[in-house]
Amino acid sequence: MIANILVTGATGNVGTEVVRLLSDLDYPVIAAVRNPIESQKSFGSNVRCVPFDFTNSDTFADAFAGINKLFLMRPPAISDIDRITPALNAAKRSGVEEIIFLSIIGANKNIIVPHYAIERAIEQLNIPAVFLRCSFFMQNLNTTHREDIRLRDRLFMPAGNGKTSFIDVRDIAAIAVKFLTEEHHQSQELSEINRAYDLTGAVALTYSEVATIFTNVIGRPIHYTNPPIPIFIWQMVQQGFPLQFVLVMVGIYTTARLGFADLVTSDVQQLLGCSPISIDRYVEDYRECWL
Ligand SMILES: NC(=O)c1ccc[n+]([C@@H]2O[C@H](COP(=O)([O-])OP(=O)(O)OC[C@H]3O[C@@H](n4cnc5c(N)ncnc54)[C@H](OP(=O)(O)O)[C@@H]3O)[C@@H](O)[C@H]2O)c1
Repeated sequence: MIANILVTGATGNVGTEVVRLLSDLDYPVIAAVRNPIESQKSFGSNVRCVPFDFTNSDTFADAFAGINKLFLMRPPAISDIDRITPALNAAKRSGVEEIIFLSIIGANKNIIVPHYAIERAIEQLNIPAVFLRCSFFMQNLNTTHREDIRLRDRLFMPAGNGKTSFIDVRDIAAIAVKFLTEEHHQSQELSEINRAYDLTGAVALTYSEVATIFTNVIGRPIHYTNPPIPIFIWQMVQQGFPLQFVLVMVGIYTTARLGFADLVTSDVQQLLGCSPISIDRYVEDYRECWL
């Protein structure tokens, strides 16, 4: 039986790709969005958009009605998980049968990240779940860091010489879709039905190495500047990023600088049956973003 699938964060980096892939497969995908009129225009008629806001419980019943499988993401702006759990409880009440959660690498051990508490909350619901624990997205380079690369020819982040096992969100979406479209096995023991994967690229690279790839692919010199943290904070805030978001970035880049972002696994290869997308290919595919 084909499942009814609801995708949260459908306008975000990963959600957009999940919706696109499901729509290409002619799956009856529903995009849970805050602005259904705008989103409907961009998704087209294959995708149904429903109003959904984690912070507005009035949107839950209609969004979850008839849904079998839920692609769940936590919006970066919501760090208090008490603002996520009401939607999870509503999903349970509506009979959602499986949750595919976009998590973060190390979430099983790192109690500071909200994903740790969300994984525990999902476990308590006793809904079968798949935790996709992802490393750092390549697509941060064409979103958050786009203007620094495009206008100032620099990779501007305080990551030292630490390596990062960058992953392309298109691989994450393909894996999410694999789970969203597979039959789940109700006979399995609950202890067996929560599965977790560490999704990384095939290699870990320093930002100097990434700058060299940019230089070679887009054909002009791109430099890695590795600014001191106070300069990074000041300049990112000057560029208009909220201080709280910049401080989260400092935490992420400090983790990389200390050598804790370089884990490489074979989970993507095993799940997709092909190598993860390389950063060379990512830069080639997105090169228009930095011209
Ligand atoms: N970036 C990384 O390197 C990385 C690595 C591992 C894990 N993660 C995790 O991945 C998640 C982010 O995924 P992403 O990059 O695909 O997202 P994203 O591009 O940052 O987009 C955020 C999405 O959340 C939606 N949203 C915001 N507030 C909402 C609310 N109150 N109710 C419902 N939807 C809301 C936005 O919709 P609107 O269009 O309405 O704004 C948008 O679709 C985070 O949990 C992050 O921690 C990120």
